[in-house]
Amino acid sequence: MHFDKLTVNPRATAVNRRVEQLANAAVRAWDAAKAKVGLTGRRADYDDHAYEFVGGARDALRKKHYDKSLRLLWKAEEHASWSSFRDATAGERALLGIAERGMNDAEKAARARISSAEFRALLDREYTPAEKSAIVSILSAIGHGEAYAWLVSASMMFEVESTGARAAVTMQVLEEAKHFVVLRELIQAFGVPIPRQSAWEYLLLEGCLKARGLDRFFGMNVLVETIALSIFGLLSDKPGLEVLRMFHLDESRHTALPDNYFKEFPLSKWQRHSPRRRLARLAMALPAVPLVLYLEPELAELGTDVFEFAGSVLRKAVHLAERAGFLLPLPGPQLLAVFNRIFNAYCRLTREGHAFRDYMAADTTHGAAEAAVEREIFGGGSAETTPQAA
Ligand SMILES: [Fe+2]
Ligand SMILES: [Fe+2]
Repeated sequence: MHFDKLTVNPRATAVNRRVEQLANAAVRAWDAAKAKVGLTGRRADYDDHAYEFVGGARDALRKKHYDKSLRLLWKAEEHASWSSFRDATAGERALLGIAERGMNDAEKAARARISSAEFRALLDREYTPAEKSAIVSILSAIGHGEAYAWLVSASMMFEVESTGARAAVTMQVLEEAKHFVVLRELIQAFGVPIPRQSAWEYLLLEGCLKARGLDRFFGMNVLVETIALSIFGLLSDKPGLEVLRMFHLDESRHTALPDNYFKEFPLSKWQRHSPRRRLARLAMALPAVPLVLYLEPELAELGTDVFEFAGSVLRKAVHLAERAGFLLPLPGPQLLAVFNRIFNAYCRLTREGHAFRDYMAADTTHGAAEAAVEREIFGGGSAETTPQAA
């Protein structure tokens, strides 16, 4: 390569370089001094000398969460063809066309690229108005949660250390943005009024957003994501809701993020065991219980017992919390036993002929693929198949 070199004034260059060196020493010393006395020094957690974020590369985190998310990245145009999204590349669109040409009529019908009017007609055909309202109430509860998941994950960008963890969080931000906008269109397609957040949901989600530092991982990635995972696992096999399978896969990766992060940057013993922190976590989690119970009539409309759903959510959330080191005031099995007694007491008061049941052993996730994904996260033995799941 040939360049026509230009001449520069060597004296001007030397002066410029010297001025920069002095300015560099001054701004960095000033920021370091401010940081020493507890003020905001350098805002970016970035080490430009190492060309790396503070905390290092941590490629394992990047591979598990950023690279894997990119491999599993799904496009709304393919999985929700009825939506307004046009996010497939020209290559992906061509591939979809080729795949459709190779299908027989039955396969084509099963994988029909339906318009939004046809999609609304499908929903009207499959569900009564009461069932549509129930689905919208349940889905919008997590739809509002997706708005907060977007905000909380973006705020985590300033909490995590290392390039790998920041890449992982970046993927979560991207996926939560997609969840929020795609789910909103799905919910709107039902054509029934969309409820506001319940008071319990308001408290839970504001609590997550206002939580300190890494405690937001507990509130969002452990608690709220487990509720999301459970709702998507419950509904993804229903007609017209197949796109929720893709949400379920994404949320399963999000629930694994705190544990993978703490493998690289462990919580201190005090952070895990401090009684104040354990109580704060329980307080953050408590609105989740009335939030789920509030959906009893809607879940019943779809044939699901709210206590089986709540038991399944609690068992999974407690498992994830303990695995990540977010200890609670009581060990997991004892805490679950307390909630099981509370649930049974409530049922004795409100249900005729109630017999004591272990709601914590229930699992309301349908669909073989979704169950397999959850087995990977929660282990094999804990989930018992209920009549609803059969
Ligand atoms: Fe999400
Ligand atoms: Fe998520």
